[in-house]
Amino acid sequence: MSEVPVTENAGGAAPAGDPLVVLDKVNKHFGALHVLQDINLTIRRGEVVVVIGPSGSGKSTLCRTINRLETIGTGSIAIDGKPLPQEGRELARLRADVGMVFQSFNLFAHKTVLENVMLGQTKVRKTDKAAAEKKARTLLDRVGVGAQAEKYPAQLSGGQQQRVAIARALAMDPKVMLFDEPTSALDPEMINEVLEVMQQLAREGMTMVVVTHEMGFARSAANRVVFMADGKIIEEAEPTQFFDNPRSDRAKDFLSKILHH
Ligand SMILES: Nc1ncnc2c1ncn2[C@@H]1O[C@H](COP(=O)(O)OP(=O)(O)O)[C@@H](O)[C@H]1O
Ligand SMILES: [Mg+2]
Repeated sequence: MSEVPVTENAGGAAPAGDPLVVLDKVNKHFGALHVLQDINLTIRRGEVVVVIGPSGSGKSTLCRTINRLETIGTGSIAIDGKPLPQEGRELARLRADVGMVFQSFNLFAHKTVLENVMLGQTKVRKTDKAAAEKKARTLLDRVGVGAQAEKYPAQLSGGQQQRVAIARALAMDPKVMLFDEPTSALDPEMINEVLEVMQQLAREGMTMVVVTHEMGFARSAANRVVFMADGKIIEEAEPTQFFDNPRSDRAKDFLSKILHH
């Protein structure tokens, strides 16, 4: 898996560990619902941040604001020192820089696996077809679905489809990858094959924001756990600290529910 660089920026111009994604006093409403409340969050290059919290706390909305699938009310979000673009070609480029993997795999049903992984490269990055295909095949091999390249998404298992979705995002050489409950829709026996790909990415230095209830993954891969409830970041800590000694009552209550059910 090591011949393909995880991102073109890994070890590049900026020093490792500098702030890559910076949310500053971000607020967002859905009508009367204050879904994101004064969110301050900095994700450093190469860092893996796991976001956990009860359903409805704003985790998905937080992810979606980072690649501007949702706009924000007040505050600011910057990626690699630049504020999020509003629209047009700049926005398309931003979306490519911020890879997103959703709970529902969101592959193009009428395109083959190979075409799914080539499309963004040729359309957004303007990579020529031969190079896009070569990269797509390498990435598909890397996530363990190289043999499925000519199939359509529906012919694959959920775990395989999710790994294709990861390959598709990686094909854009994203600066950061966002995962929003990537294993929640999977049958239990397929969860690990997806988590293993994510573990590998983390080890290779990819900057990742991962919303998940997979506490084993959080413990082993995360540099930091961010606990959200009711639109706020309640607590942030290293995984061991967070899981063994949560400070807030909200986190204690949440952990007791997910760890003892
Ligand atoms: N497009 C939307 N319009 C109105 N309300 C929304 C929308 N998306 C999410 N919400 C509401 O915002 C809150 C946070 O949702 P979400 O970010 O999906 O939470 P989580 O991912 O933590 O479960 C929920 O109450 C949800 O119903
Ligand atoms: Mg969600």
